[in-house]
Amino acid sequence: MNAKTTSSFPTAAFIDGEWVTSNKTFPVLDPATEKKLADVPDLTPADAQRAIDAAYKAFPAWAAKPAKERAAILHRWRELILAETEALAQLMTAEEGKPLAEARKEVAYGASFIEWFAEECKRAYGHTIPTTGTSRRYITIKQPIGVCAAITPWNFPIAMITRKVGCALAAGCTIIVKPSEETPLCALAVAKLAHDAGVPPGVFNVVTTLDAAGVGKALTADPRVRKLTFTGSTEVGKILYRQSANTIKKLTLELGGNAPLIVFDDANLDRAIAGAMASKFRNAGQTCVCANRILVQAGIYDRFMAALKAEVAKLNVAPGRDPKSTVGPLINADAIAKVKSLLADATAHGAKIEVGGMPDAHGALFFTPTIVTGVSPSMAIANEEIFGPVASIIRFETEADAIKIANATPYGLAAYLFSQDISRAWRVAEALETGMVGINEGLFSNEVAPFGGVKQSGLGREGAQEGLEEYLETKFLCLGGITG
Ligand code: SIN
Repeated sequence: MNAKTTSSFPTAAFIDGEWVTSNKTFPVLDPATEKKLADVPDLTPADAQRAIDAAYKAFPAWAAKPAKERAAILHRWRELILAETEALAQLMTAEEGKPLAEARKEVAYGASFIEWFAEECKRAYGHTIPTTGTSRRYITIKQPIGVCAAITPWNFPIAMITRKVGCALAAGCTIIVKPSEETPLCALAVAKLAHDAGVPPGVFNVVTTLDAAGVGKALTADPRVRKLTFTGSTEVGKILYRQSANTIKKLTLELGGNAPLIVFDDANLDRAIAGAMASKFRNAGQTCVCANRILVQAGIYDRFMAALKAEVAKLNVAPGRDPKSTVGPLINADAIAKVKSLLADATAHGAKIEVGGMPDAHGALFFTPTIVTGVSPSMAIANEEIFGPVASIIRFETEADAIKIANATPYGLAAYLFSQDISRAWRVAEALETGMVGINEGLFSNEVAPFGGVKQSGLGREGAQEGLEEYLETKFLCLGGITG
């Protein structure tokens, strides 16, 4: 069956090169209007099992292809994605809500991972190792790990798929993707383009479902799935980690964050404001690397706050399809409830809402860009991911205070610092307990950078050289009996 949306992208799931429908479906909603965009199949753990069967069957032939041939198919996939930029961006804005300009950038960002891994897979080098005995020679080779499973989030519905699938396929692995139930349409659209590009049946499968727990169990229980990659909450990551223990899967976990963005007295104010705005309000504050706590030193505090208020006033809340929109809706009612409850808790404990702080008239899922000051490190808003357009401000006195506050969290994904003093910038970057640090930069994600966290923000890295390693095994070969 070749189900199509009005924009000609599929609405059926994709297993073994076939479009799969079901009597049971679930609706995909536009968060801007809360209207239904499409119904997609609500597949079962048994369907996930079929996808594993297909990926397992497809693995030997895909793994055996020379990297150059896999790369050629991946390059075609990237080209098809870029050729469909406008349609994909419209689809993304419809199901995820982000402004069209951001959606277009995400299509390019998503495509960049495919390009990078298509190039990088040709360089999956092993080593020769100096021998320990005259009659033996040692080398290592890199081999694809096998069947992989990916559980992907809604906030970057294309890029978080290509970052995983592009890498897996480049390495010679096959994969089953369980996309977020909020944004399955983008996943199906890129799967269709992969199929059109020549990715063989079974190599890339998409299982749409509302039964995330059941399908997650099926994917983690099966010993044929050798790797699991997940982007989402730390809470769910811990469950998947435990479930993967029985079959000792290799894991990449991109989990929650609580990024500090530190503005020192000696910062370039314009750069700090631009960085804070980009980091905080991208995707309406719904990224794992968003500045969750903005720490501002006392000497620059008043100037920073005045400039921040002026910039926030320029934001334009509107449905993402409106070309003037810079802040779209949040993903669902739970997201709105979370933002409201964090703000209520913060104000009950003495914080002050300086700007915004209320729902926006465009619809039930819109929230006004907000600045809350007087936040203290013990408040819930400083300890939980806000995932909304709320700048939460903590004032500090000394560099040591800033480092202490920044590191006082179980998370360690991203951090940002703004300072013109190179010694301080280096010192603080080294002291921050995170996997990534933006120094005088509010946006650092790209395909050549290793993305990932420390502490309870996860395991492993995506993108970059390190990303490819996550889908490869190192095999040691010892050749004996060499005579002189
Ligand atoms: C995320 O929020 O999980 C990804 C953000 C990024 O790639 O920059």
